[in-house]
Amino acid sequence: MTELPSAQEFEAIHAGYHKNASRSLSLRKEAYVEQSWHNVDLSAIIARTWQWVCHIEKVRDPGSYMTVEIAGHPIAVVRDKEGDLRAFYNVCKHRAHELLSGEGNATRIMCPYHAWVYKLDGHLVRAPHTGNLEGFEPKEICLDQVQVEEFCGFVYVNLDPDAPSLSAQTGDLETEIRHWAPDIEKLTFGHRLTYDIRSNWKNVVDNFLECYHCPTAHKDFCDLVDMDTYKVTTHGIYSSHMADAGNAPNSAYDVSNATVKTHAVWWLWPNTCLMRYPGRSSMIVLNIIPAGPDRTFETYDFFLETPEANEAELDAMRYLDEVLQVEDINICESVQKGMNTPAFQQGRIVNDPDGSGMSEHAVHHFHGLVLDAYETARR
Ligand code: FES
Ligand SMILES: [Fe+2]
Repeated sequence: MTELPSAQEFEAIHAGYHKNASRSLSLRKEAYVEQSWHNVDLSAIIARTWQWVCHIEKVRDPGSYMTVEIAGHPIAVVRDKEGDLRAFYNVCKHRAHELLSGEGNATRIMCPYHAWVYKLDGHLVRAPHTGNLEGFEPKEICLDQVQVEEFCGFVYVNLDPDAPSLSAQTGDLETEIRHWAPDIEKLTFGHRLTYDIRSNWKNVVDNFLECYHCPTAHKDFCDLVDMDTYKVTTHGIYSSHMADAGNAPNSAYDVSNATVKTHAVWWLWPNTCLMRYPGRSSMIVLNIIPAGPDRTFETYDFFLETPEANEAELDAMRYLDEVLQVEDINICESVQKGMNTPAFQQGRIVNDPDGSGMSEHAVHHFHGLVLDAYETARR
């Protein structure tokens, strides 16, 4: 049995949070340091929300597939022969071996353990040496399907069979993304950066959701974007973070030839960030993957106009990898250490009702969604 918080702990986790961000404290530290709350995060948040998988280009052709792990569950996304996108637990119905691995193209799915064969729609078509079995009907066997959705050029899955669609849950997000990135479906994978961080995933999200730390922690970034125009808006299950590119030459990377002049960033509950930085057309997808109470994996995927990055994009990647990420990861790891001491319980949310970049209202919004999920998990 997975250890979960007690009824009293579920009650106490709401303490200090107030619906009004100007009166609220942040989420209590137990949620960031204890294994029991990490277990709730996986079962009540990650396994019940839309999780980013890949760009649509990976599963465009019939037979193309992509595998991922969501809250520890192996999942495969497959384009079947009829052209329908399907997702299922990547688990054989015979004795539970993993079926597909990595990514690629297949006409059938054959289990590498005893060679049971499934169609791309998940139906079992062949099970060697089972002719003598009694009451065994291969036709009745099908892989367990999970919800899958194409949304603004990317593929998402949701392990909760009852979850409303991502487009229904996100209101105007699609309109916003398509406004800023009308070519999103045409972009192609350019590069991936990965990180292994000694901090809770919610510290990584918290840090992503405010630019109150930018003037002290990211001096270069504050030249790259015009901080006076930085605006953060929260909506339902996402928040938008918008700013104009800075006019002055900056020390981060060269944007003098940029066709995209706006820094447009969206955070999608609970752990996906979509970023369109000044430069050529592009979209960076940050996936924040909880790996333990004090461990998080991150993938930064760069989707570009061409598979090869241009000079400015290479500079942008270097800046992100060697400067911005180093600064942010140090912050998140320091915060995790601090939370593990008796000297910290929770802190004050710094709120600007005008929604400027100096405000932490998007962090407060995230904490509200976390507490809603905890409340649902308790029932
Ligand atoms: S576990 Fe897949 S064929 Fe045996
Ligand atoms: Fe930062």
